[in-house]
Amino acid sequence: MPPSLSRGARRAAFLPALLAISLVAACGGGSLSSGGGADANGDDSTPVKIGLSVPLSGVYAPLGEDMTQGFELYLKQRDNKLGGRNVTVVKADEGEGPQAGVPATTKLVTGDQVSAVVGIVNSATALGLKDTFVSSEVPLIIANAGADDITKDASPYIWRTSFTNGGVGESIGKAVAEEVGDGEVYIITADYAAGQEQIAGFKKSFEAAGGKIAGETYTPFGTTSDWQPYLNEIRNSGAKAVFSFYAGSEAVNFVKQYNQFGLSKTTPLYGTGFLTEGGVLDAQGEAAVGTKTALHYSDAVENDTNAEFVKAYQEAYNELPTTYAVQAYDAAAVLDKAIGSAETVDGPGIGKALSNVGDIDSPRGTWRFNDKHDPEQPYYLREVQKTDGGFSNVVIRELTK
Ligand code: PHB
Repeated sequence: MPPSLSRGARRAAFLPALLAISLVAACGGGSLSSGGGADANGDDSTPVKIGLSVPLSGVYAPLGEDMTQGFELYLKQRDNKLGGRNVTVVKADEGEGPQAGVPATTKLVTGDQVSAVVGIVNSATALGLKDTFVSSEVPLIIANAGADDITKDASPYIWRTSFTNGGVGESIGKAVAEEVGDGEVYIITADYAAGQEQIAGFKKSFEAAGGKIAGETYTPFGTTSDWQPYLNEIRNSGAKAVFSFYAGSEAVNFVKQYNQFGLSKTTPLYGTGFLTEGGVLDAQGEAAVGTKTALHYSDAVENDTNAEFVKAYQEAYNELPTTYAVQAYDAAAVLDKAIGSAETVDGPGIGKALSNVGDIDSPRGTWRFNDKHDPEQPYYLREVQKTDGGFSNVVIRELTK
């Protein structure tokens, strides 16, 4: 397992390097290549414009930063080319929810005329964007948002390199039922599509395995900062364990308050892996130790591609990669293959080529798109442990249904 680094603390020292990468991406630098298909006018020398829309502000801004780093690392490793074509990256701020994210991302299509867009963290924003991409025939490669309905029509213009909310919630239900045994589990989550669907998935497999629920609370998304009243309710419910979805700064505050309230000593905390992922875990520190979660990646996953990826990521950013970074890295990998084989490098051409990208050799392990355009992939049970250099989501085992 790679050593844990303190994330963020040394990030400032790497800003000049990051700036250089961004500039190259924005300018479409590097030498021109004849690889890849021609654009709609038959020209294969002009750079391909790709939109990158992730949160640069709001609750999920740290996730956006990880995704930018993952996407830019892939480009840097390939001389700023995808499918042999130089790339110009046009960035947009997804913000916290659809009000900001839908217009900012739509502008990439209607104003900047990009050939494809990568990104989108928030499920509600992704749902609000879906029709725009389908009707304008520009592919959207969702590199996080898990809303189940986004991919239900398997449109050639909607693809996802992350997970479905139902799938990640469902992956851990049986394991929690087995670990908790006869006791009841209390559910607490952010109240919007991601939380609702992850909990629905969790309940499906948890209850099928005989699990019982002590109570459920859905907290207002983006505006909750004091969990004290909810923690009181959890204590009074007599629950033997708690299951939760939070991400970004909400995950930091919830887990810290859970610990301060004394619940981590009596009532084990479970969740989907976003609860303790990346920079969130550094901020939670000791408070998160013992929390068990499910996700499709950990920096400790053992395979050659991950070993190389972790090394390159640490060299570039002096911190360990996160699931968010891998999802965006893989979105670049998917586009690399699609652009390389597209008959025309424009929205319809790339959309068509995405059906034939086959196996993706990813740091999470090899995966491929299923018939809905979501990744077919394993999930891992992880536990937060204190390691030599800090805190880590140590992989306990692969989860089975
Ligand atoms: C979502 O809105 O789908 C979402 C957001 C943040 C996460 C996971 C899912 O960490």
